Amino acid sequence: MVTQDTTTHPANPTLTTADGAPVANNQNSQTAGPNGPILMQDHHLIEKLAHFNRERVPERVVHAVGIGAGGVFEVTNDVSQYTCAAFLSEVGKKTEVFTRFSTVAGAQGAPDSARDPRGFSVKFYTEEGNYDLVGNNTPIFFIRDPLKFPDFIHTQKPDPRTKVQEPDNVWDFFALSPELTHQFTWLFGDRGRPKSLQNMDGFGSHTFQWVNAEGKGVWVKYHFKTDQGIECLSDDDLLDVTGGNPEYMLSELRDSIDAGKFPSWTVMVQIMPFEDAPNYRFNPFDLTKTWSQKDYPKIEVGRMTLNRWPDNYFAETEQSAFNPANFVPGIGPSPDKMLQGRLFGYGDAHRYRLGTNYHQVPVNHPHATKARTYGRDGLTRVDGNGGASKNYEPNSFGGPVQTSVPTYAGVPVDGLSGSYPWTLHEQDDDFTQAGELYRLMDEPARQRLVTAIAGSLSRVSKEEIVSGSVAHFAAADPEYGARVEAAVKKLRAQGATADDPQKEAATMVV
Ligand code: HEM
Repeated sequence: MVTQDTTTHPANPTLTTADGAPVANNQNSQTAGPNGPILMQDHHLIEKLAHFNRERVPERVVHAVGIGAGGVFEVTNDVSQYTCAAFLSEVGKKTEVFTRFSTVAGAQGAPDSARDPRGFSVKFYTEEGNYDLVGNNTPIFFIRDPLKFPDFIHTQKPDPRTKVQEPDNVWDFFALSPELTHQFTWLFGDRGRPKSLQNMDGFGSHTFQWVNAEGKGVWVKYHFKTDQGIECLSDDDLLDVTGGNPEYMLSELRDSIDAGKFPSWTVMVQIMPFEDAPNYRFNPFDLTKTWSQKDYPKIEVGRMTLNRWPDNYFAETEQSAFNPANFVPGIGPSPDKMLQGRLFGYGDAHRYRLGTNYHQVPVNHPHATKARTYGRDGLTRVDGNGGASKNYEPNSFGGPVQTSVPTYAGVPVDGLSGSYPWTLHEQDDDFTQAGELYRLMDEPARQRLVTAIAGSLSRVSKEEIVSGSVAHFAAADPEYGARVEAAVKKLRAQGATADDPQKEAATMVV
């Protein structure tokens, strides 16, 4: 019956079933006679095929294309006057990190060199629990209310009918949502496509709270400045540099780490006293805006170095679950509505994508402390489930208890509950910072920006989408608007349509 012998050798231990029983034959399925049908009793075959059918977990609804690496964060400057977070308590202190970079819109397999924001997620495995900073390589975002996030993402994803990203959807939403002007200017500019993951900065993007040992709070924004220098990839250079490899960015980072060339980022914060926020010239919690570095200069905190490429992509990069709600004592949220929405969104996504016990996956559980909760049971609980210990609190049999020490400071609130637009400050508008960004660019950079925008905008089907979009760019800077308008007109006169074969190279994402 056995058609092939296998020799047991230290490098080739016995193959087993998932339950540990030796497998007699991994080459030939069991059949009824040499040429008969396959037998139900072939447990090894059935288990192998069934497990294979379940190899994929749902991909992330956004940020599906991911590139992960492990490393270390080291404090280089004393910030203990601002935060009591233990991992930031003294110069020289080191904390293990896991970082996942990503693109936003593409499905798995989409080119990782697409023009798109890059996700920049960092999990700090601190002794007070895991602290997650789930930012992007842009200091700002498209929208300022979480209610709009699903609509915005739908415009970036494949159209329900055509199944490709449609310039109509991208630009229609833009023309009707002026707050996107700043981020669109950023994205269609040179930094919208970094040359590699190590040649871009990262940002926490939102405003967060730091609180010190005396309970005094400040508002902070995080900056991860690349130590490799900023380098970008123009539309013209894209094919030459990537050679059409859809995993160009992944390979570049893996090769660099494997060769011992470890990329690093200098981590800095801008700090705003609590008292400044109500009267700052724009709402400091609005994610479509950056804080002036003249008003709030960057202060160094530490350095993050990536020095470990994971041995198994699925185990770490795919199963990693970052959550902006994962704070540690001394760090907390701000009233930024986008951040507040995200505090719900990620844990919910993980429970759907990885199951309710996703915390137990090694990349997600705390590495420098132990989680102690009264949560029990649930799908695929693998850690002993709390053993015989009591699963309720308070109890008289021992077990974890609260600290009674708030982990971050309270924030004053007033008024009645309701669906309010953002409170306007003196300079709250959608265009000032977009115009400033445009005017910061030199002439060749402005030209590349206008060309990239026009390449995509020229292919929409309705004139009012063009005029609405141009109006936003013109409100940022009249020259900017006029140049986009002229470039779109020229391309439309040359016959640009939604079916343009150049679409791939010029559209915003995939
Ligand atoms: C991933 C929701 C805004 C950065 C995700 C995921 C969801 C989500 C559901 C997939 C999570 C998973 O399955 O693991 C939202 C919502 C937002 C929002 C509802 C607005 C209310 C933002 C913003 C940023 C951001 C403003 C950056 C500043 C990321 C990153 C990832 C991600 C980096 C990938 C995390 C990873 O590497 O696993 N988001 N998002 N998101 N989001 Fe958001």
